Amino acid sequence: MNQSELYERLHRGHDGDLCFYENACTDCDGVLELGAGAGRVTIPIARAGAQVLGVEIDEAMLTLARRAVSLETPEVQARVSWVQSDMSDFTLAGRFDRVLLPYNTLLCLLSSEEVARCLACAHRHLKPDGQLIFDVYRADTMHEEDDDDDDDDHEPIVTIDHAAGVFDVYEQSTWLRQEQRLDTVYHFIPRDGQEAFAQHIPQRYLLGPEIHQLLRDSGFRLIRHEGGFFGEPLDEEALHHVVIASRD
Ligand SMILES: C[S@@+](CC[C@H](N)C(=O)[O-])C[C@H]1O[C@@H](n2cnc3c(N)ncnc32)[C@H](O)[C@@H]1O
Repeated sequence: MNQSELYERLHRGHDGDLCFYENACTDCDGVLELGAGAGRVTIPIARAGAQVLGVEIDEAMLTLARRAVSLETPEVQARVSWVQSDMSDFTLAGRFDRVLLPYNTLLCLLSSEEVARCLACAHRHLKPDGQLIFDVYRADTMHEEDDDDDDDDHEPIVTIDHAAGVFDVYEQSTWLRQEQRLDTVYHFIPRDGQEAFAQHIPQRYLLGPEIHQLLRDSGFRLIRHEGGFFGEPLDEEALHHVVIASRD
């Protein structure tokens, strides 16, 4: 069974995020997406006319991405390319109008130093008037609460009907506030008696002040910092940090 296909079926983005990133890339020639996954954002941006390069570390995700792009028209196929690399340590030819990290991708980097290296790479690959754009979930309010706790869902968060079978998916999250970690395990329980399996997703969340400091230290100037993909304010209710920055 292809577990990366099930990962992709589970992680479908946030309401409005695709439209947000497409709009942000209108009239761009070159776009670089870091942690491009299976091309959920990469391919629509290429359809809209930009040349898009996706950087992805995971071979299985790249296989899914290449398969997805092979279903596109020859024109779109010609506008997409992929590089297998670590987004915190890469050097590419050329500079881009946009560097994107959609859908919590920065949180895959488990230390502040790795995030700083990633932002430095993004900075080096942007044109002088280019923009860095990313979103991460907003954990600031939860982080203020005092106890580390575990959160187990006793109801499936989703049921996935896949060629390999029907799977109920349960989510189990562990907060480690000291380390700014929220580690999640997704348990895939097949209904037909096949073997169950789990996917572990460790993430180090970023708090608002740290985002600002990291951007400043990497030579970025904040243009916009909102609480959602529809221009929501960044207040206590906000679910996301949606950030647009330019080279200082
Ligand atoms: C949350 S997914 C986002 C995928 C895609 N951008 C989207 O919006 O659907 C994060 C992706 O980043 C990739 N990734 C994690 N660490 C990485 C690293 N150090 N370098 C490059 N890609 C990485 C993961 O394999 C995964 O595909």
